[in-house]
Amino acid sequence: MDIEIVRSRFAKHFNGETGYVYASPGRINLIGEHTDYNGGFVFPGAVQQGMMAEVKPNGTRTIRAYSIDLKDYDEFSIDGEGPHASHFRYVYGVAKEMEKLGVPVQGFDCAFAGDVPLGAGMSSSAALESCFAFAINDLFGDNKIGKMDLAKVGQSTEHNYIGVNCGIMDQFASVHGKKGCLMRLDCQSGEFQYFPWDPKGYRLVLINSCVKHELVGSPYNDRRKSCENVVAAINAKYGTNAQTLRDCTWEQIDGVKPECNPVDIQRANFVMGEKDRVLAVCDALEKGDYETVGQKMFETHQGLSKDYEVSCEELDFLNDVAFDCGVTGSRIMGGGFGGCTINLVREELYDLFTKTAVERFEAKYGKKPIVIPVVIGDGSRRIA
Ligand code: GLA
Repeated sequence: MDIEIVRSRFAKHFNGETGYVYASPGRINLIGEHTDYNGGFVFPGAVQQGMMAEVKPNGTRTIRAYSIDLKDYDEFSIDGEGPHASHFRYVYGVAKEMEKLGVPVQGFDCAFAGDVPLGAGMSSSAALESCFAFAINDLFGDNKIGKMDLAKVGQSTEHNYIGVNCGIMDQFASVHGKKGCLMRLDCQSGEFQYFPWDPKGYRLVLINSCVKHELVGSPYNDRRKSCENVVAAINAKYGTNAQTLRDCTWEQIDGVKPECNPVDIQRANFVMGEKDRVLAVCDALEKGDYETVGQKMFETHQGLSKDYEVSCEELDFLNDVAFDCGVTGSRIMGGGFGGCTINLVREELYDLFTKTAVERFEAKYGKKPIVIPVVIGDGSRRIA
């Protein structure tokens, strides 16, 4: 991302003025998919790609926004209904959610751009939300809102203004990211640890199928509902007060089979297994046992594809290619329904694997997938 481009577009659209510049990254996730809204564990890290925004208070109640990538401009009042276009709705939603936390938000001028590939499952929207949450906290809130609350602002923006009932992983990772570190977050307690990520002899690489992953209007919310149905059935049958599947046992899930839709049970069983896999991966990482990490990634892919049913033909194909090449671990990353696979690859296999994946995918689908090497970067920050 080029700060000079952001600076020059801002100046062009706002009478040669200058504001502050903020950046927030997208994310990868090593393992722990669809566990966040189930109170489980996730294992993300921020990437170098992200969103950048120049922002300057304008002394009114109006937000004037320019999307550099889409060459689109709009202005809307903080007190009105907000814009329709989703790229501006994120900005509006974040401003409203920051107001709810008591931040005296005022109007501002902004121009933003990003280099997180859209629809790749790398959380470009969380990057945008976190960027503006961070900026508004800095410009109007004396930085009094803590990082976890900034992440929650992004999440409630998705819920209340976009219609995706997402968990906290993406915004958490964007705000808290640290160069060279993955993070294990317990989504129930909010506790997290940084894990230095330096897999000697291995590399992480994403292969973007370029099938656009789009959670708005996707069955993402249905997956979440399935899990909630099972929790409700357990509470009704056992008189418990479980909030999420994290509070439930395999036996309880088995016990409510007669009351539940079999598909809901299948989804819940995936989530239980995924929770255990994250913990197994953490143990393996502490021992430097990357082969076990990789094996768990393949297991996650199977679960996401067959039980949670959030894969697609192209992603399953990329997973098969990785397996055939002898890659250590490979799986769908993020919400699914398109986007990338994440692959843990031994150094000596890297060139052969990426070349083979591109060639075989192109031969089958007539278009090249995009190879994205993973570099773990920093979280939300002011850069100028
Ligand atoms: C999307 C959501 C996250 C998480 C993942 C799946 O990225 O935004 O909250 O649920 O899907 O792990």
